[in-house]
Amino acid sequence: MAKLLITGGAGFIGTHTSLVLLEAGYDLIILDSFINSSPIALKRVSQISGLNSTELARRLKTYTGDIRDLDFLENIFKTCGQEGNPIDAVIHFAGLKSVDESVKNPLLYWDVNLNGTKTLLTAMEKNNCRTIVFSSSATIYGKAQSIPIQETAKIQPINPYGKTKAAIENILSDLTGINPNWRIACLRYFNPVGAHPTGLIGENPLGTPNNLFPVINQVAINKLKVLKIFGGDWPTPDKTAMRDYIHIMDLAEGHLAALNYLQNSTPELITLNLGSGKGYSVLEVVSEYQKVCRKKLPFEVVNRRQGDSAISIADPSKALTKLGWQTKRTLNEMVRDGWNWQVKNPKGYLEEERK
Ligand code: NAD
Ligand code: WQD
Repeated sequence: MAKLLITGGAGFIGTHTSLVLLEAGYDLIILDSFINSSPIALKRVSQISGLNSTELARRLKTYTGDIRDLDFLENIFKTCGQEGNPIDAVIHFAGLKSVDESVKNPLLYWDVNLNGTKTLLTAMEKNNCRTIVFSSSATIYGKAQSIPIQETAKIQPINPYGKTKAAIENILSDLTGINPNWRIACLRYFNPVGAHPTGLIGENPLGTPNNLFPVINQVAINKLKVLKIFGGDWPTPDKTAMRDYIHIMDLAEGHLAALNYLQNSTPELITLNLGSGKGYSVLEVVSEYQKVCRKKLPFEVVNRRQGDSAISIADPSKALTKLGWQTKRTLNEMVRDGWNWQVKNPKGYLEEERK
């Protein structure tokens, strides 16, 4: 079975996708600096996979290091090659993802996201590995002109984080010009949420969360006093902003579908929205949470957050046509699985890290 390098494989999307890929039979090399994740997450992936220790030793290897370090990357490619089991493809999650932090420290974001990716692509070129699935983001559409958003919509990111993602998509496009053998999928994720249904892996924000689902989780366990709803004057039916939330397991399965597509078609660069095509308002999400966790969640409507837009909803039809992939899970499952993870791991992976 093919061997994959998963950069950032210990993170939120990386862990869930690694699990799906392991279950599909792929052998994995997970590379992570653990700057925003925990090795415990990978222990949990192994646990859920049900593989025994011999199978795990053979099929899942972990390297700790930074994607900006070319020697480190080259060493991984060389070692796999020498073992007679070269890396066939890369799923590239590693990077920094906070919009706020990117505004405060744009140089860090350009360095990690852009230079990191450039270094990775250099190592891939040198080692004749030319298949990559890249984590792009719907954030590159900025304030979209029309809803639902198609892949052909204007790319107009409004923050440094989004600009790094758009720039990486450009680099990837340029690569196909110098070597037509590249097989590239740029996956533009909408709003990934929820957790694996076992509650063993999930989103583990370090510090105070900014995103809606982790914030609601913390309000529901009284770690945060109140949910501040950013804006009650948006042009939507209930006046709160609408997003296309996608269950993390649907997103993980989207990566498997994209990889299978790349491996079975002629080389190409494909750009796809990964979203559900449905939008929910902040108040609708709060209402679903209240049903699932059976308590009233305190909230107040405050001013709009800078950079937010009224509505972001994907047109996911291209992914269905090309990959045969579409989301299967409902908002209720997103909330239920996200809440289950929170209840089982009120401090994320911290408690097990201390053991
Ligand atoms: P995450 O922070 O949980 O995972 C990223 C992983 O990359 C972490 O484990 C982190 O330790 C690792 N990492 C960071 N810098 C690194 C470096 N220089 N070298 C090696 N490893 C490094 O984030 P996530 O939510 O899993 O996101 C994965 C990817 O998807 C990111 O590229 C992100 O920009 C993109 N994305 C995320 C979302 C989202 O809402 N979560 C939406 C769209 C796109
Ligand atoms: C969702 C909705 C908020 C928190 C972000 C990134 C984007 C992508 C996905 C990486 C919005 C509202 C939120 C709160 C609120 N990530 N909200 N109170 O902003 O759509 O997208 O994650 O690529 O780049 O920007 O997601 O979860 O922050 O917000 O009212 O405390 O919830 O205004 O309408 P967003 P989010």
